[in-house]
Amino acid sequence: MSNLEELITTLNGIEAGNFKENDIDRLKLIEAAKKLLVRVEAKEERWFDLVFSQPIVFAALEILLDLGLWQKWTVIDGASKSVDELCELCTPKCDLNLLRRLLKLLASVNIIAETNEDHFALTHMWHDDMWKWIASRTVHWSSSAVNFPRFLAKTGYKEPHDPINSNYADQSPGHLHFFDRCVAEPASQEAFSDFMKGWATYKVPWPTFYDTDSLMNGADLSDGGVLCVDIGGHHGIDLTRLLDKHPDLPPGSLVLEDLPEVVNGAINLNEKIKVIPHDMFKPQPVKGSRAYYFHAVFHDWSDSAATQILKNTVEVMKRGYSRVLIQDMVLPVVGATAIQSTMDVEMMSLCSAYERTEGMWTKVITDAGLKIIKIWQDGRGNEGLIEAELA
Ligand SMILES: C[S@@+](CC[C@H](N)C(=O)[O-])C[C@H]1O[C@@H](n2cnc3c(N)ncnc32)[C@H](O)[C@@H]1O
Repeated sequence: MSNLEELITTLNGIEAGNFKENDIDRLKLIEAAKKLLVRVEAKEERWFDLVFSQPIVFAALEILLDLGLWQKWTVIDGASKSVDELCELCTPKCDLNLLRRLLKLLASVNIIAETNEDHFALTHMWHDDMWKWIASRTVHWSSSAVNFPRFLAKTGYKEPHDPINSNYADQSPGHLHFFDRCVAEPASQEAFSDFMKGWATYKVPWPTFYDTDSLMNGADLSDGGVLCVDIGGHHGIDLTRLLDKHPDLPPGSLVLEDLPEVVNGAINLNEKIKVIPHDMFKPQPVKGSRAYYFHAVFHDWSDSAATQILKNTVEVMKRGYSRVLIQDMVLPVVGATAIQSTMDVEMMSLCSAYERTEGMWTKVITDAGLKIIKIWQDGRGNEGLIEAELA
C-alpha cells in the first residue's frame, strides 16, 4: 500500500473528542474499524486473541485488582509511574518482575500505556472508577458463561425459560437465582451494582429523547401527587436525570422503588426523591402516579413474570392519566448490534430471559391490559422507550 504511512497517521490522529457533537458518527467509525480488523487480521491472529489472549489478559486485570493497584493508581489519576513505584502501591507485596510482565501484557493490548522503558500510565478507559467493573465479571459473568455450554448440554439444548432453574443458579453457590444471590451476598450485590451504575451512566438520559414535558403538563402534583415511580430503579440515576431537567419538582413527587438491599445503597440521592423498598411482584403501593417507569427491568424476566409485574401496575393506574414507560432494548428484526445481541444471550445465561422485538413487547403489554401509545428511540440505536396506557 503506497500511502500506508499517511493512512496510519490519519487513523492515529482520531480521538473520541473529534465526535463530541455526533455520537452516531463515532459508533459508525468503531463499526468500520472492527470490520477493518476482521478483514485484515489473519485467521490465526483473530483466534489467538479469542481463545488464548482474552482469558490471560482478564486474569492480569484481576490479579492487579487483588493487589489493590487499580484503586491506588486511579487515585493519583493514572499518572505515568515506574514499575518500582507501582510495586510500592501493591498490597500485598508482589515480585517486581511479576508486576512488570503483567503490566507489559496489558500495555501490549492497549489497556494501559507503556510511556517509557519500565514506565506505564493509565489510559482514558480507567476514568470514573471503571476498574470496579472487573469484579462483576469475576463474580457473575465469567462463571455463568463457563457453565453455560455444560448446562445446555444437560438440559438437552432447550431454550431456558425457568428463572429458578437457570444456568446461573446451576453454578452459583447455594444454587441461588441471580437477584437472590445479590440479596444474600453483599459482595455479589456490590459487584452487580458497580457494573449497573457504570452502564446506566453510558446510556442516553431518557429525558433527552422522551418528551417529559408531556408528563409535566396535566400532572396533578398537589396534595402529595406523584409524577414518576421508578420500579427496579437501582440507585436512582434515572429519577436524578428527570429531576435535573425539572429541578422545581416538589419533594416526594419522584419515588424510587427496588429491593431493600438495593435501595440501601442509594447514597447521595436528592432528598426530593422518596425511597420505598419494594418487591415488584407484590402489589404496587403508590396509586395513581402520572408515570410508572421501568428501565432494563423486563429483560431480566420471562413474559409471564413481566406480565405479572405489569398487572401489579395496571391495578393502581388512573385511566386517562397514568402511563407506563418502559426503557429497554427494542431489538430490530434484522441487524441487532453487538451490544443488543450480547445483552440478549447474557440475559438467557443469567436469568433465563431475553431482549424483545417490538412484536414481543406488544404481546407482553397487551396481555397486561395496556396499549402502546408510542415507541421513542434513544438516538443511539441501543434502547427505546415504550409509552403505554390502559387499554
Ligand atoms: C438490570 S437492573 C436495572 C436497574 C435500573 N433500572 C437501571 O436501569 O439502571 C434490574 C433492577 O431490578 C431490580 N429487581 C430485581 N428483582 C426485583 C424485585 N423483585 N423487586 C424490585 N426490584 C427488583 C434489581 O435490584 C435491579 O436494580
